[in-house]
Amino acid sequence: MSRRIIPVADFSAAPIVSGRMQAPSGVLHDTLSRPLRDLRISVTDRCNFRCVYCMPRAVFDKDYAFLPHSALLSFEEIERLARLFVAHGVEKIRLTGGEPLLRKNLEFLIERLAQLTTPTGRPLDLTLTTNGSLLERKARSLRDAGLTRVTVSLDALDDTLFRRMNDADFSVADVVNGIAAAQAAGLAPVKVNMVVKHGTNDGEIVPMARHFKGSGAVLRFIEYMDVGTSNGWNMTEVLPSADVITRIAEHFPLAPLEAHSPAETAQRWGYVDGSGEIGVISSVTRAFCGDCTRARLSTEGKLYLCLFASSGHDLRALLRSSASDAEIATAVAEIWQGRSDRYSQLRGSQAAEAREKSGRRVEMSYIGG
Ligand code: GTP
Ligand code: 5AD
Ligand code: SF4
Ligand code: SF4
Repeated sequence: MSRRIIPVADFSAAPIVSGRMQAPSGVLHDTLSRPLRDLRISVTDRCNFRCVYCMPRAVFDKDYAFLPHSALLSFEEIERLARLFVAHGVEKIRLTGGEPLLRKNLEFLIERLAQLTTPTGRPLDLTLTTNGSLLERKARSLRDAGLTRVTVSLDALDDTLFRRMNDADFSVADVVNGIAAAQAAGLAPVKVNMVVKHGTNDGEIVPMARHFKGSGAVLRFIEYMDVGTSNGWNMTEVLPSADVITRIAEHFPLAPLEAHSPAETAQRWGYVDGSGEIGVISSVTRAFCGDCTRARLSTEGKLYLCLFASSGHDLRALLRSSASDAEIATAVAEIWQGRSDRYSQLRGSQAAEAREKSGRRVEMSYIGG
């Protein structure tokens, strides 16, 4: 049986560390003066869902060549890198996948990461993005290991539609029970992410708002993005966030809220009756690259500077060579200082189209959302 290769065009080699060492100073800027503040670490490329917009079953089938265990960064390797990134200024670490709760003994990694502190001695914001299917079982142990909060993906409350969207027969109840367990365990605030596909689940916007209003969970609506190459993205399937807000406000009046930080992906809106807030993430209609402080580490240790990148920098090769911490920290500094990515801002421009032709983009299931 033929094994297919992951659909990622990635010709990266180990970074070359130049002669001059750069000891971490707690802040690194890229070519557009954006500091490095967030690290998103993918701990597995596998998922038990087959969301049609992320891991369509036709591509991610039984012949799909997921990474072998030896290719994955070990927990020791992840911790070593995370420590160096924190020394460079990272304050938030998000574990992603695939589905991160499929990685065996993930709690051991969380325990290690929860020990890290920023150069000024503050604990990290340590969070995780999950599809929620295993959360009911795991929420308590994740909290005990030191996880601060979780974000759960949920695209519909209608069970038939939800099953169609995850294409793996998981029910809404599985996820809703997971959210309740996370809240009970104190993984607060729980955020709920809904990807809106116009014509597929936009009818769920108001029911979702109604369901989570007053629950303490923060519901966020995400514009469907042209990430990866396997989801057959089409602009007609994007519902602008402005329309999402209009639809909800017809039922529940909303007022804009101040951003927590400039690097935040979501624009916040509060219910006028004081029953909580929602967010909209508008990477298609209102790109937020100007304040993008996010680096992404793939399951096999490649550092990606943008969700839409077609190649990453092979930190695993450095880790598995005799490179010292000082050399790896210098490589990370040089990579970030050379960063100029701002794909969403350029989307549709000539520069983006030229790049489009030059290579395939990495899949979201490989570097996480
Ligand atoms: P919070 O710290 O909880 O606000 O998380 P976050 O919004 O930074 O991260 P989350 O993983 O919840 O992101 C939600 C969605 O926003 C993702 O699933 C993506 O669809 C989108 N997103 C997150 N980061 C980026 C990014 O850097 N670029 C683009 N274009 N979209 C992003
Ligand atoms: N557009 C927007 N968000 C996406 N995600 C996955 N694929 C897409 C896409 N094409 C996000 C969703 C999901 C998380 C794991 O990744 O938020 O909840
Ligand atoms: Fe899995 Fe999340 Fe992708 Fe769905 S969106 S297939 S749950 S990684
Ligand atoms: Fe950051 Fe790239 Fe997303 Fe822009 S498109 S916000 S640069 S990850």
